[in-house]
Amino acid sequence: MALSDRSQCDVSVDTSDLDFLDPLISTSSASSKYISRPCMDNIGYRRFQLFLLACFLFSCSLIFVIVVYCAEDRSSTMFCPVGSSNSMSWKIINSVSDNEKMEDFHEDEYYHGEDFSLRTSEPRYNRLGYRDIMEDDFEFDISKNDVMVFLHIQKTGGTTFGKHLVENLLLEKPCVCHRMKFKKKKKKKKRCDCYRPNGNETIWLFSRYSTGWRCGLHADWTELNHCVDRYLDAREGPAKRRYFYTTLLRDPVNRYLSEFAHVRRGATWRNSVHACGGRPATRSELPSCYSGIDWKGVELEEFVSCEHNLAANRQTRMLADLELVGCYNKSYMKAEKRDQVMLASAKKNLESMSYFGLTEFQKLSQYVFEETFNFHFSVGFEQYGNRSTHSGEARKSLSPEMLRQINLVNSLDLELYAFAKSKFFERFEWLKNQDTEFDNHLEHLGEGFQS
Ligand SMILES: *[C@@H]1O[C@H](CO)[C@@H](O)[C@H](O)[C@H]1NC(C)=O
Ligand SMILES: *[C@@H]1O[C@H](CO)[C@@H](O)[C@H](O)[C@H]1NC(C)=O
Ligand SMILES: *[C@@H]1O[C@H](CO)[C@@H](O)[C@H](O)[C@H]1NC(C)=O
Repeated sequence: MALSDRSQCDVSVDTSDLDFLDPLISTSSASSKYISRPCMDNIGYRRFQLFLLACFLFSCSLIFVIVVYCAEDRSSTMFCPVGSSNSMSWKIINSVSDNEKMEDFHEDEYYHGEDFSLRTSEPRYNRLGYRDIMEDDFEFDISKNDVMVFLHIQKTGGTTFGKHLVENLLLEKPCVCHRMKFKKKKKKKKRCDCYRPNGNETIWLFSRYSTGWRCGLHADWTELNHCVDRYLDAREGPAKRRYFYTTLLRDPVNRYLSEFAHVRRGATWRNSVHACGGRPATRSELPSCYSGIDWKGVELEEFVSCEHNLAANRQTRMLADLELVGCYNKSYMKAEKRDQVMLASAKKNLESMSYFGLTEFQKLSQYVFEETFNFHFSVGFEQYGNRSTHSGEARKSLSPEMLRQINLVNSLDLELYAFAKSKFFERFEWLKNQDTEFDNHLEHLGEGFQS
């Protein structure tokens, strides 16, 4: 090799370990020339090699620094590999040109803070269902150990509802909201302390705006069930709590189209953990539908045809107890059986929730909430379903074939939604019959209500 004639020159630097650089700078025919070259050339060549080595070491240390930095706080930088180590995509802050609020967009994408989603505990089955509340006359006792848990399914209007919970409930001690600056982030986030009336230690609401995504970004039933109690134990010390689960459901096709529009402009929710069975779902269990950093600009055909798309049947999956179907391990049971079990579980969990609302029926959903919990909002829920959302418009322009495909990939959600609708109106009618001042109540839902 070129460096073998060291004896001719008095070079004190031992360059023998630079041999690996040779192929980069010299072909086999060129390398023989170096041997016969005079000393100065050789020294120049070694300097060049040293320069290359320096560059190489510099890049190594740069990569090392990035890795260490990202490991420390993986979600805080623009250039960290996203999520767990099995993710190959790199995070870049997306621009949102749409009318989607930047704050909500970013908050959905980036999760900060300690994540309790993987600290599994035995689920504690003291969730209070609607029947418990109605038939046994349990009341949500905000000054004892009762906790309301809001399960926020993407694109169901949960952000608005979540804001109502922290901003507009008429409580003896309302939540106190402030903007919090998280380290290394420019955006300030809304956080609200929702303490019980008798002190500043324990909280009654587990939701994005009160606790943040402590059980994972848009945590599902399975994640919440194993995590919320654990989180509150860590925060407040062990206690015997009663849980009142709440959620919102939306027409599956409109919700799906809304998610499509959101993903199309760059949303990914890639930091969702999908914890189940004490571990996050692996990349092979939940393959990505796209190879880049996001799925920006995706066409509907492509969106629908990706079989791993989590948008399909999202509501059923997020409400089901996924441990019953082997979590995200598709070989645990046959697809048909898996669907059956998941749907049945989602229905059961939904029915036993203290409360669920339907995005399409804001006013009635508000009424059912207020009557179930004996709480009142200072504003009326606005019906925005067919006016300002894109999905309403998008739906009209779908070809019949496309609509058929969307229905097909959301068949579980369609069945779940039909079930939810009938249960919702059952609850509504029941509450209405109990309510001697029904007309008056419905009319005056919220001070700012406009019919
Ligand atoms: C709780 O905190 C608020 C604001 O910091 C304070 O005004 C109030 O007195 C506190 N209440 C109790 C019971 O400590
Ligand atoms: C998935 O389920 C199958 C069948 O029960 C099992 O053999 C396999 O080990 C599971 N895979 C993982 C990763 O747990
Ligand atoms: C929304 O649709 C319902 C029926 O589909 C209609 O009665 C209502 O007026 C619409 N609301 C708006 C704001 O367009």
